[in-house]
Amino acid sequence: MDTTTPLLNLINVSKRFGGIHALKGIDFEVRPGEVHALVGENGAGKSTMMKILAGVITDYEGEMRWRGQPVRLKGPRHALDLGIAMIHQELSVMPELTVAENIFLGRQPLKGGVVDWPRMFREAEASLAELGFEHVNVRDTLDHYPLGVHQLVEIARAITSGAQLIIMDEPTSALSPMETHRLLELTRNLVEGGDKSVVYISHFLEEVTWVADRITVLRDGEKITTLKAKNADKQELVRLMLGKETEFFEESYIGAREVEDTHELREPVLTVRGLSKPRAFEDVSFELHAGEILGLYGLIGSGHFELGEALYGLLKPTSGEMVLSGKPLRGNPRRAIDRGVAYVPPSRRSGLFLEKPIYQNISLPWLAHISGFVPSVAKEVKVADEVIHRVGVRPPDPLKEVVFLSGGNQQKVAIARWLVELPKVFVVSEPTRGMDVGAKEEVMHILKEMSAAGVGVLLISSEPETILAAAERILVMAKGRIVEEFVDQQVTKEMLLAAAAGEMVEQPA
Ligand SMILES: Nc1ncnc2c1ncn2[C@@H]1O[C@H](COP(=O)(O)OP(=O)(O)OP(=O)(O)O)[C@@H](O)[C@H]1O
Ligand SMILES: [Mg+2]
Repeated sequence: MDTTTPLLNLINVSKRFGGIHALKGIDFEVRPGEVHALVGENGAGKSTMMKILAGVITDYEGEMRWRGQPVRLKGPRHALDLGIAMIHQELSVMPELTVAENIFLGRQPLKGGVVDWPRMFREAEASLAELGFEHVNVRDTLDHYPLGVHQLVEIARAITSGAQLIIMDEPTSALSPMETHRLLELTRNLVEGGDKSVVYISHFLEEVTWVADRITVLRDGEKITTLKAKNADKQELVRLMLGKETEFFEESYIGAREVEDTHELREPVLTVRGLSKPRAFEDVSFELHAGEILGLYGLIGSGHFELGEALYGLLKPTSGEMVLSGKPLRGNPRRAIDRGVAYVPPSRRSGLFLEKPIYQNISLPWLAHISGFVPSVAKEVKVADEVIHRVGVRPPDPLKEVVFLSGGNQQKVAIARWLVELPKVFVVSEPTRGMDVGAKEEVMHILKEMSAAGVGVLLISSEPETILAAAERILVMAKGRIVEEFVDQQVTKEMLLAAAAGEMVEQPA
């Protein structure tokens, strides 16, 4: 193996989307056998740069070299043929197909011209076992499994494709701490032999400094620096990413934080009693008070996201009851919205219409309220303009289609929608998934503002940092049940993990 020639180079690469200068004269290099991390704020240009490497974006200025040879990719197929595979930030799976089919999408093993199912199942099983996921049945359709498994399927697909360069764009955003740990170890193992390399994008700086050999920092489409991960200091990285001093660090959540006791003074706005739904959650009872931020923490698959769906009417419980402001809460999302229940799903894609402009995504639940009987685009745009400025959507242009926004900014649109008319109960699942530190702070600030205005906020997450940053009281779910309540005490990330998973969770050293 020639280790002196880089596996891949970008030389003076620039990319514009209309008026947006997404990449400005980038030089970038991936060496054989390295994990090269890419960090930067939402909208810094990370995904754009990776889409160029993976042949998704083909019109750009500058040069790309593969093993020292200039190459101009014609498309993703061309990239795969060279040995470049990308795991996209937005999941690309087909839930209605089996797990095995999803792993081998587009390149199923054939025998006599037809799909060799036994072989495909065998190989799919082997690749998931390598990832440490023996409990997934590759013959089941993917929709049997939670989001974390969808993400693993994408990862397994990239690994089994035999690629030499694997690009992972926020691969852990849907994974539980245990799954994350496994993926990080697997990533190190992948490059161990020296012939495979990984480009790793994540907003979790702990992961990045653990897994990477080198780290490149992007800011506003420019490369700021590339440094050795070993010497990287997290605060320094944040400063390089944001280009300014900030009081907020992801790490400041980790560790103890006082959970205030103010909820007892408030009225319950939502009461849940004995709520059950087979294979999702069982005998769940709790109260949510007006003006409170109640954290609901659990590992992926613990039933906490499904509980959120039930409150919004997306999932029908088989027994138990939900009472909102003294009256039973039943029915579908339309009824829930009218009763004052707002909801942000854990996967931002399922709540947004990507091809529609921002303003339509915002006004959707409110059309009857905003426009009266006469639809008024001007009114919709005005309302949207106000709320997207409040949550800091960039670019703050209500006419822009959501598909053109970076991942983090799409998420802000999903939240901004519910600021038009304050709900009584706000059920938010993973509101800060895939956000940089600055954007996370903005979202937490919005949740706190809403609770201060009397909204009962149910903050559902598998990220301990997110829960610890905002919750005043915390419920922990495991295997569909509430197993622990934390109130009036110091709560650490370790305590949450322990409650949710027993002693099984180890964090990477
Ligand atoms: N297809 C597109 N059309 C127009 N603008 C785009 C398109 N894709 C990206 N952009 C813009 O280019 C800039 C860089 O976006 P990119 O998705 O690369 O950011 P990112 O660093 O991956 O952010 P995030 O952490 O939020 O995923 C952003 O301003 C974004 O709005
Ligand atoms: Mg991105």
